[in-house]
Amino acid sequence: MNKVAIAEDIFWVGVVDWNIRDFHGYTTSRGTTYNSYLILDQKTALIDTVKHTFGRELLRNVNDVIDPGKIDYIIVNHVEMDHSSALPMMAEQAKNATIISSQKGKEAIIAHYGDSLQIQTVKTGDELGLGDRTLKFVEAPMLHWPDSMFTYVVPDKILMPNDAFGQHLASSQRFDDEVDEHVLIEEARKYYANILMPLGSLITRKIQEVTQLGVAPTMIAPSHGIVWRSNPSRIVNAYLQWSEGKSKKKMAIVYDTMWGSTEKMAQAVVEGAVTQGVEVKLMKLRATDLTEIVTQILDSKAVIVGSPTLNNQMFPTLGQFLTYIGGLKPKGKIWSFFGSYGWGGGAVKNMIEMARKVGFEVHEPGIEVKYIPNAEDLAKCFELGKQIGIEISV
Ligand code: FEO
Repeated sequence: MNKVAIAEDIFWVGVVDWNIRDFHGYTTSRGTTYNSYLILDQKTALIDTVKHTFGRELLRNVNDVIDPGKIDYIIVNHVEMDHSSALPMMAEQAKNATIISSQKGKEAIIAHYGDSLQIQTVKTGDELGLGDRTLKFVEAPMLHWPDSMFTYVVPDKILMPNDAFGQHLASSQRFDDEVDEHVLIEEARKYYANILMPLGSLITRKIQEVTQLGVAPTMIAPSHGIVWRSNPSRIVNAYLQWSEGKSKKKMAIVYDTMWGSTEKMAQAVVEGAVTQGVEVKLMKLRATDLTEIVTQILDSKAVIVGSPTLNNQMFPTLGQFLTYIGGLKPKGKIWSFFGSYGWGGGAVKNMIEMARKVGFEVHEPGIEVKYIPNAEDLAKCFELGKQIGIEISV
């Protein structure tokens, strides 16, 4: 992949990871990119590096533009290894470069790579002159690591916010107006849901703070995926909407089943919900990956969860699901639980306890059925879907 100019004298020198399908548990069905940008001025700055397995490719892309020995600064917006594990190699080539990071970034660089690198720390509002251009830094702690930082290229109005506003989307194209917009938004939504959802209130505040600092980007160049150049406010507004927990008349039904009883119950819940014109997503855990399920939950007003009882516990896939979604803390959803058992229940009670512990609003009581749901049991499930459908329709 050759260098691409994203503005005059500013180049994308990143790499495309076409084949990654498991990004620390996140299913990256369309691959990803690790974006790195090179700014040429009287001083030269490289913004972020890449995953170490692609270090040689990064070096080749930089070399296509400039001798790496002439790089004056390497800006490390974020130390997670997909962006920094090629840093030691790059620093070896860019012998004269000073590394710039937040204070927390410096601590994390030392923890990961030792203390031999020359690091200068910056804080919010600090500026670095490159010649005609100035870089302005904005610390963004916990978006999504303590070290996270945004870099703003002042005269060009380009925001380089690292992970924020990214998407796991491998492409030969670099800009939003060059790719399918539905795919782009779908991947941006999936990325927000699975990485940034628990940080909603921080995101809203950070967007306000950045605006007050005079940062008004005409281009947003994240560290993953496509660069937003045609209408960057579109992704900013989407983030504001997602971070407020806005949802629609939609119900996510997540379940697993052993011999079909819980599945029959799930289908009856669907039938009840659709009588109210509710959009329903029915997702069996062993048929749908968690990354997709969480993306569907992001804009659902209600989440109905079903499990068979196995050894007095919820089915193991439900434990995995509730652990994952509990950490992501989706806001403002109605939760309800149902399930089946053979001789001793437990799944519904266990799921309710787990959901309560993480602060979910749980509709009680749940429905638990012995062996096979009869007509009366299925009528109760139908009614559950219908009643929650009514509730989320107002
Ligand atoms: Fe793309 Fe937090 O790393």
